[in-house]
Amino acid sequence: MLNVSPEVQKAYEIATAARLRAHAPYSRFQVGAAVKVDGIPTAVPGCNVENASFGATICAERVALTQAIAVHGKRALDFLVVVTGEAQSTPPCALCLQVLAEFAGDDTPIYLGNLSGVQHRYLLRELLPVPFRSFKP
Ligand code: THU
Repeated sequence: MLNVSPEVQKAYEIATAARLRAHAPYSRFQVGAAVKVDGIPTAVPGCNVENASFGATICAERVALTQAIAVHGKRALDFLVVVTGEAQSTPPCALCLQVLAEFAGDDTPIYLGNLSGVQHRYLLRELLPVPFRSFKP
């Protein structure tokens, strides 16, 4: 287990609680996430929300991120926490990393946890070294 600050630990608990609200009747794979944004003390939760049309499923990370924007507006992202029930904690999928890269800096920490606690800390740049950020129209 990783030794983390109280604010990361609190976000981990928020993500763990959100995981239990996952709508995952198809995969049975519940994911919780929490996004901490600048100036807002409490991290914003997300959980995966699946759909009978599988491709319409939304991952926990994108739910947390888009909810943070909807509730608090666009703010600098301090960090993200992702929690699954796996022994080996799992990273955000490539689609979520790309969406994160739209709003997060390369050095934004991403904490991965399981039901025992926070297990790993990565930077966005380690999980997505070369994001697509913009094009010149
Ligand atoms: N899922 C997430 O919520 N986050 C990830 O980073 C990977 C996958 C969800 C999508 C789907 O509901 C289930 O986990 C299985 O892929």
